[in-house]
Amino acid sequence: MRRKVIAGNWKMNMLPDETIKFIEEFAPLVKDTENEVILCVPYTDLFYALLTAQNTNIKIGAQNMHFEETGAYTGEVSGKMLKSINVEYVIIGHSERRQYFNETDESVNKKIKSAFKYGLKPIVCVGETLEQRETGKTEEIITKQTELALEGLTNEQVENTIIAYEPIWAIGTGKTATKEDANNSIKAIRNKIAEIYGQTIANSVIIQYGGSVKSSNAKELFEMSDIDGGLVGGASLKPEEFSKIVNS
Ligand code: 13P
Repeated sequence: MRRKVIAGNWKMNMLPDETIKFIEEFAPLVKDTENEVILCVPYTDLFYALLTAQNTNIKIGAQNMHFEETGAYTGEVSGKMLKSINVEYVIIGHSERRQYFNETDESVNKKIKSAFKYGLKPIVCVGETLEQRETGKTEEIITKQTELALEGLTNEQVENTIIAYEPIWAIGTGKTATKEDANNSIKAIRNKIAEIYGQTIANSVIIQYGGSVKSSNAKELFEMSDIDGGLVGGASLKPEEFSKIVNS
């Protein structure tokens, strides 16, 4: 049985004082869950989040990293830096980064390798645009993104990669993929992993759904055979709402 992993992606929201207040309110609400709970916060909140989440079951992640270790990359933060303050997870290749910051399948692949090099666990995002969906290319796009993201990883690294299937048209729009559609897309990703790395590994990879997940739809999504939890944007900014998703 795969575990369920519920991660919040705060995007560019929340100040340090709001982060501390959030975690103080949220931690007691999720303390009994068997699901894995992760908050991916802005760089400026990481330190406060890590301190406040000590002695709770909440794990902390970043939302991006550079693939180089150090160097003349103004404004960037490396995996080594994240690891040095005990960050555990990092989102890689979110569609907003691919769309606004020119991330490519190649840079995503380099970042995943670098994340593993420094002992971080990557949450890798894939997903199709509305146009790609409407022209019947969803499966082709998301399986190709997955294949390129995982290229050159060891079997063990593939097993420890979390994939988040996030259809771009469902992000922040209030439109959620139907549970059947989301499950089928995730099955297609799992089949691709099975084709390359074998069924045993494919069966153990955590694949989340993301895109307008809220407390009113989380349960039906997470009950599907292949959906192993969610990557949650807007609804992860409110402690009570996010705790309902985690506990659903
Ligand atoms: P929303 O939950 O706000 O649609 O965002 C999803 C997302 O992009 C999580 O990474």
